[in-house]
Amino acid sequence: MDFFTVIENRYSVRGYRPDPVEPEKLEKVLAAAQLAPTACNFQPFQLIVIRRDGREKDLERIYSKRWFRQAPVVIGICAVPEVAWLRHDDKNYAEVDATIVMDHLILAATAQGLGTCWVGAFDVPATREILGLPDEVEPIAFTPIGYPDRERAPFKRKPVKELVRYDRW
Ligand SMILES: Cc1cc2nc3c(=O)[nH]c(=O)nc-3n(C[C@H](O)[C@H](O)[C@H](O)COP(=O)(O)O)c2cc1C
Repeated sequence: MDFFTVIENRYSVRGYRPDPVEPEKLEKVLAAAQLAPTACNFQPFQLIVIRRDGREKDLERIYSKRWFRQAPVVIGICAVPEVAWLRHDDKNYAEVDATIVMDHLILAATAQGLGTCWVGAFDVPATREILGLPDEVEPIAFTPIGYPDRERAPFKRKPVKELVRYDRW
């Protein structure tokens, strides 16, 4: 699949078939995450791969929508700010890096015919407890990974001219 087909094919999949994800596809998804750029190449993130079977109750507590626990695998990304690049004004880039990594991962899943959905509205205290996160680690996002049980709805986006300015604000 060429790059533009991949980005046109990605959409938020909110319904999954129970079919397993082939291990080689999951490996490629994780390899894409590894290849993502991070500030100064510090790679201040950890991915947590949650295999659904037997974890349904945990997944429900993390994010209660039914489709979140339909896919066979859910991946969470955590930022580790203490090992991230600090800009000269002390802006910590861990969250930026983690977001780029997640996008790589999601597009690699799409390129292999898998569905995903960014989830930012998860329960942070439940996530911390269930995944055993140390205080210094920040959960950023999750996505289920599995085969979609539905087609995408039409894209709804602002026109490019409303999103772009040239040369200055
Ligand atoms: C950072 C981020 C967080 C999101 N969190 C959620 C979420 O918690 N639940 C959800 O159903 N969708 C979530 N989404 C999906 C967006 O609603 C979706 O990407 C947007 O409506 C555009 O639709 P599309 O992904 O199908 O193109 C999130 C997307 C992003 C980028």
